[in-house]
Amino acid sequence: IVTDLLSCGEPRLPSHALPPFRCCPPTPASDAAVANFTFPDPGEPLRTRQPAHGAAGADSVARYARAVALMKALPESDPRSFYQQANIHCAYCTAAYRQAGRPELHVQIHFSWLFFPFHRAYLYFFERVAARLLGDPGFAVPFWSWDVPEGMRVPPEFADAASPLYDPIRNPEHAPPRVVDLDFSKVDKNYTDEQQIQLNLRTMYKQMVTNAPLPSLFYGQPYRAGDREMPGAGTVELSPHNTIHVWAGDLSQPNHENMGTYYSAARDPIFFPHHTNSDRLWEVWRGGPARHADFTDPDWLDSSFLFYDEDARLVRVTVRDMLDIGRLRYAYAEVGLPWLSARP
Ligand code: C2O
Repeated sequence: IVTDLLSCGEPRLPSHALPPFRCCPPTPASDAAVANFTFPDPGEPLRTRQPAHGAAGADSVARYARAVALMKALPESDPRSFYQQANIHCAYCTAAYRQAGRPELHVQIHFSWLFFPFHRAYLYFFERVAARLLGDPGFAVPFWSWDVPEGMRVPPEFADAASPLYDPIRNPEHAPPRVVDLDFSKVDKNYTDEQQIQLNLRTMYKQMVTNAPLPSLFYGQPYRAGDREMPGAGTVELSPHNTIHVWAGDLSQPNHENMGTYYSAARDPIFFPHHTNSDRLWEVWRGGPARHADFTDPDWLDSSFLFYDEDARLVRVTVRDMLDIGRLRYAYAEVGLPWLSARP
C-alpha cells in the first residue's frame, strides 16, 4: 500500500460526527517537496519513553503537557499544530486517502499488518515535532502502561480540567481511580479493583502469548495494493488497543468520541501515550522470550506513508524504515511484565 497525498479527499465520517469534517493535511507546493525518510543522526540523544505513572512519569507527563500546549497554540494551517497532528489519524482511517492508481479503493491502516508500523511512524514524527517545539531534543512521549497494575488507570494529569492533557469528550465514569478494563465492551462490570487487575493481566497473556504465536496473528493480516481495506486485525490491536479506545471514549457521544472512534481518537491527548504503550508491546512481542520474527514480505516492507516532520517538510516513510527503534533513536524504560506469569 502506497499513500499518495494528492489522493486525499473527503473522509467517510460516521453520522453525527463532530467537527471538523475534513482531515487532509496541508498540500505541499509540489510533488518534488516530498523527501524520502532518512534516519536520525546516530549521535542524537536517545529519547527514552517513560511510563506515565510514578515519579519518573510525573516529569515526563509534565513535559508532554507543555508540548501539547505548544502544539495547540500553533495555527491550524501549521502541519505541526495539534489540530493537524490529530487529523493525521482521521485521514488514514476514514478512507480520505485512495490507493495509488486505484481510486475506488480506500486506504485504512487499521485491521491489517499496517497497524503497528503506521502508528510507530506517526508517533515518531509527533514526538520530534514536540521535542522541537519544547527546545528539548531528548523529549520522549510517555507511555500509558495499562498492562501493568500501577498503570491501569488514566494518569491523573489527564483528568485535571486545567491541564492541556484534559479532554472533555472522554468518559467521565472512567476518570481515575477507576481501573481500566482491557476487555471492555461498552458495559462496566462489577469487579473489585483487584479482580479487574487480575483479569487484565490474563487478557495481556492471552493477547501477547497464547493467541499470538505467528506474525499474522500478532500484526494482522496482509493488506496489499488492490486489496479491500480491513482484512483482519492482530491480537493486541483488537484488545487491549481497541477496547481501551472505547473504554476511554464517551459513551454518551454519538460515536463514542473522542477516543472511541477512528476519526476523532487523536483529538484526545491520551491517544499518544496509549499508542506509545501499544508500540512498546510490539517491541516486547518481538524481543520477548519467543524471539518472534517479522514479516519479510516486500508488500509489507515497502508500504509507505506521508508525514510532516519537525521542519514542516513532507517525508515519505516505509514500513522497512520503522523496524529498528535504536536507529530511530528512541527506547522504552523497563517496566515489569507481570502478565507473563498470568497464564489463564
Ligand atoms: Cu489508529 Cu489507536 O488507533
